[in-house]
Amino acid sequence: MSGFSPEWLALREPVDHRSRDAALAGKVAAALAGKDPVRITDLGCGAGSNLRALAPLLGADQDWMLVDHDARLLKAARERLRAWADEARNEGDALHLKTSGRAIRVSFRQADLVTGLDAVLDRPADLVTAAALFDLVSDEWIAHFVAALAARGLPLFTVLTYDGVESRSPSHPADAAVFAAFHAHQATDKGFGAAAGPRAGTVMAETFAAQGYAVMTASTPWRLAAPQDALLMRALSEGIASAVRETGRVAEDALASWAATPVETHDVGHIDLWAVPRG
Ligand SMILES: C[S@@+](CC[C@H](N)C(=O)[O-])C[C@H]1O[C@@H](n2cnc3c(N)ncnc32)[C@H](O)[C@@H]1O
Repeated sequence: MSGFSPEWLALREPVDHRSRDAALAGKVAAALAGKDPVRITDLGCGAGSNLRALAPLLGADQDWMLVDHDARLLKAARERLRAWADEARNEGDALHLKTSGRAIRVSFRQADLVTGLDAVLDRPADLVTAAALFDLVSDEWIAHFVAALAARGLPLFTVLTYDGVESRSPSHPADAAVFAAFHAHQATDKGFGAAAGPRAGTVMAETFAAQGYAVMTASTPWRLAAPQDALLMRALSEGIASAVRETGRVAEDALASWAATPVETHDVGHIDLWAVPRG
């Protein structure tokens, strides 16, 4: 879980996909029906997981721009999308995919969402989307982002924003201390100023509402269970332990015991959010 390696994103992708709220995604698809092509900007795209989940719900002609600051992840996105589609061909820097009767044009843009957000949002779009991004950003960045979307009349569909509701079974005496320290780590600067962390979904819902958006949310926890999710659960525990270690808030022997104890289930809370300008 350190940084966002292509391997970590690949490990979480199937769980991310099964955890997304189908009803909320259906509302997004209905709102975009008839756009031909439908133009989508995916922020913090990583290796392209959000496209692979959302594209099958949208129309036959799609035009995506995938944005990330990490060149290695943009390269992984290109490779994984080629492997995912039935057909793929390059046209300049863009990728043209055909899959399940859909034509999907994908362009890739390396940009920092701190310094380059407005330029990214200036690209004409019908939808801005992001997966597992907004717990990294600050309240101030959210305020700027929502105002920038409102100024352009753009809707946002975002999934899998961490909400801090986390539990493992069987329980461990250090659970409460570990999760409290993890939440403190979540609130540290991830490049956007002090992160909203587990509060991000609530802050976004309130900020969009204040800008006159209709806001719908759904709870979309990961529900992990051994043995099928054992690899992800192990990586998750190691990632949490390493973040907690950085805070110095939990004694090392308690943390080592927590990280080494096998668990049968691990739930990780998330929020999906669909925000549409009114009128
Ligand atoms: C948790 S990953 C999610 C990736 C992908 N959306 C997914 O669902 O698999 C967060 C992503 O945000 C990107 N990111 C973080 N800070 C960024 C920034 N300042 N500018 C652009 N992308 C950023 C990371 O490189 C990473 O790809």
